[in-house]
Amino acid sequence: MSKPHLTNEPWDAHLIRYGMPFAKRLIERARGTLIWDSEGREILDFTSGQMCATLGHNHPRIVEAIQEACEGALHLFSGMLSPPVVALSQRLAAMLPPHLSKSLFLSTGGEANEAALKLAKMHSGRYEVVGYTGSWHGMTSGAQSVNYVAGRQGYGPMMPGALSLPAPNPYHCPVRRCRDACDGTCLEVGFDMVDAQSTGSLAAVIAEPVESSGGVIVPPDGYWRKVKSHCDKRGMLLIFDEAQTAFGRLGCDFAFQHFGVEPDMLTLSKTLGGGLPLSATVISDAMDADCHEKGFIHPTSHVSDPLPAHVALAVLDVLAEENLNARALAMGERLGAGLRYLQDKHEIIGDVRGFGLLQGVELVKDRETRAPDAATGRAITARCMELGLSMNIVSVGSMAAIWRIAPPLTVTREEIERGVAILDQAIGEVVAEGSKTAVG
Ligand SMILES: Cc1ncc(COP(=O)(O)O)c(C=O)c1O
Repeated sequence: MSKPHLTNEPWDAHLIRYGMPFAKRLIERARGTLIWDSEGREILDFTSGQMCATLGHNHPRIVEAIQEACEGALHLFSGMLSPPVVALSQRLAAMLPPHLSKSLFLSTGGEANEAALKLAKMHSGRYEVVGYTGSWHGMTSGAQSVNYVAGRQGYGPMMPGALSLPAPNPYHCPVRRCRDACDGTCLEVGFDMVDAQSTGSLAAVIAEPVESSGGVIVPPDGYWRKVKSHCDKRGMLLIFDEAQTAFGRLGCDFAFQHFGVEPDMLTLSKTLGGGLPLSATVISDAMDADCHEKGFIHPTSHVSDPLPAHVALAVLDVLAEENLNARALAMGERLGAGLRYLQDKHEIIGDVRGFGLLQGVELVKDRETRAPDAATGRAITARCMELGLSMNIVSVGSMAAIWRIAPPLTVTREEIERGVAILDQAIGEVVAEGSKTAVG
């Protein structure tokens, strides 16, 4: 492999900073659950890249699909279709309920949500969209307007009509009522607030079935059925954003199957492309017909591109052939057991939650007050990296510091055990160092 030429300047000399700090080492190679830095150091990747590499990095079938795509076409005029794009639309329609039958293929999750919001508004003739506190739907303006976990300040007004519902988080009850088990009061209070604020133009609710960046919030049984019935009562569309939850991470093809509720509209991204940029907005024939009639347009430079569609077909094949749904559940059990063992051992771990290979570990100063310990969390995360484990810590305002732990679905038992052992060592060292400093 030919190496790119680098000057002696600092690596970030010509790069805009976009949020999280850049890692201290350059990463040169990635395979399966492992990545290697430029000095050859091996690191376990428990974030699946940016939650996209569910098959593991550079899965041979993805590499093969990219090579095959090079034999055909990589990119075309936006109005041209190709066999992989048509096949992918047919494949998704076959996997989804009959009313989710028409797909629009774009590049990123933000774009897919942006298109979903436009379609929901055009179809309903209304403009208010309700998101969840703690949600993340993308960085384009419409999607960002219904993001409530971060990034709202500093850009002026958000999209008119952006409202919110409280996430059903029983560890930090948003209406200060429940502790450890959500009784659904927050949903009723939330819809009362939405009704009070609405100008009478409620178009849609957009939600992650399991809120991920907001701290791995798994709603209680029956929660999404209640939301759907609130939406139906108000003539609102329910949009599920399954960027992270579709295609195996929760042990099923789509999270809505697990929760027993079919959304009116669906967006897919991250996990569909297996590491390549691909997203989809999925709607019904009727909505497509109506919006087409009304003049819906959303051509982008990379709409319906053949390369990522070719790769997505390989992703869906591997998901089935390697039985990754079942594997995610089995490996998720082991990971969860390891994390609960660490919770018994280390006071700083206040809560372990999630299912499948999407696990959240909440870090607290005190298990009673549940005050977040973000500083120690960051120090442990940095120590993990030195010891060879890449982890993502997400902060939810001043409320919480949480590791979102999500290795590829192809992770091995040995890799899970190695990761848990590194985490154990890093927590032990950083907490011991902290108490020495406190005593000193
Ligand atoms: C649930 C969810 N939706 C949408 C997005 C946005 O996707 P993208 O970054 O590809 O625009 C993200 C990104 O983290 C996400 O987690």
